[in-house]
Amino acid sequence: MFQIGEGDHVRVAVIPGDGIGKEVTAEACKVLRAVAQAASKPITLTEFDWGADRFLRDGTTLPADAPAMLRRDFDAILFGAVGDPRVPFHKYAPDILLGLRFKLDLYANVRPCVLLDKRFTPLRDRTERDVNFTVIRENTEGLYSGLGGCFKRGTPDEVAVQEDVNTRKGVERIIRYAFDYARRHGRKRVLMTDKSNVLTYGHELWQRVFAEVRAEYAGITASHMLFDALCMEVVRDPSQFEVIVACNLFGDVLSDLGAQLAGGLGLAPSGNINPEGVCLFEPVHGSAPTIAGKNVANPLGAILTAAMMLDHVGWQAEAGKINAAVRAAVAQNKLTADLGGALGTRELGDWIAAQVSR
Ligand code: NAD
Ligand code: IPM
Ligand code: MN
Repeated sequence: MFQIGEGDHVRVAVIPGDGIGKEVTAEACKVLRAVAQAASKPITLTEFDWGADRFLRDGTTLPADAPAMLRRDFDAILFGAVGDPRVPFHKYAPDILLGLRFKLDLYANVRPCVLLDKRFTPLRDRTERDVNFTVIRENTEGLYSGLGGCFKRGTPDEVAVQEDVNTRKGVERIIRYAFDYARRHGRKRVLMTDKSNVLTYGHELWQRVFAEVRAEYAGITASHMLFDALCMEVVRDPSQFEVIVACNLFGDVLSDLGAQLAGGLGLAPSGNINPEGVCLFEPVHGSAPTIAGKNVANPLGAILTAAMMLDHVGWQAEAGKINAAVRAAVAQNKLTADLGGALGTRELGDWIAAQVSR
């Protein structure tokens, strides 16, 4: 059984990746060091250079021993983002990001969509009370399994098949995770979304499993919406949602939609969770190559991600301190340009680090 650290010491593997992944991760690490120092608690941040530069240099994507090493030597993983215009994404990035999700069996992708200030939402007349839900995304199967193939590729008769894998074990554990998450977080509503009207094998399995599992959770209201209708409803009235559980692809789509309702990708944190193993925490956004290297990326998504990570490893007070500092930044308009502020990535990181040092 995986155990986190010894005593208070937290050992973090840091994978900044590419583009703004590097910039925002540097700020998250700055804040982690500051909050640890203020609490006189030991934290070790060990950086790994997996990403486009390393791939271009020596062809490394995810080293074969990486999953075992991460499980053995670390309590958590802090990830930035991968994706670089010099290299086609499929040549290296899925090996790294999907490789870690699959090989560490990080089956629950937890993506809170929480509006910190009503001025950030594009929805008219909505406030912080209306946008506060969490997407629980299945993270190890579905259309991401990589199963499939091509036939007669490059000819007029070509065929491309991409398989949608739904296993009893995979569907059951993510639905159960959503209900347990709701219980742990005092949430009363769990909604499962699918396209069972069309995906009559794969998502019919989701229907049957959901019907079984919901019966075990008295006190939580369980409901269902087809995914297309859900996309409409989440824009029309997001206040009806607390916890939404979805397959891998729908969860991916919904978490960007939810992020925007809460102020944009620059603010959205996430955790890739295996309740019995080392977990990986990353902002929801990608490497944003067009703004990379300009000190303009919003580091708050990565900083909130660092707080999520600390909460997970048992540093609740320090996580709370970081979350409070981010709320203070929002209240005092200490923000980057994406949210109408005047600070650079580093300057905002410095400001949060100074707040948590007190
Ligand atoms: P993206 O998230 O990188 O960017 C989408 C938009 O949001 C862009 O306009 C970008 O400038 C903006 N944005 C994102 N994060 C921001 C931040 N912190 N501050 C300010 N603005 C921010 O998505 P994309 O453009 O579709 O993808 C770019 C690359 O990143 C692609 O290679 C993609 O595959 C990859 N990607 C990686 C991850 C990951 O590693 N987890 C996630 C998504 C996309
Ligand atoms: C995300 C990203 C990834 C995904 C890509 C980069 C593989 O969009 O983390 O949301 O689709 O899961
Ligand atoms: Mn995504």
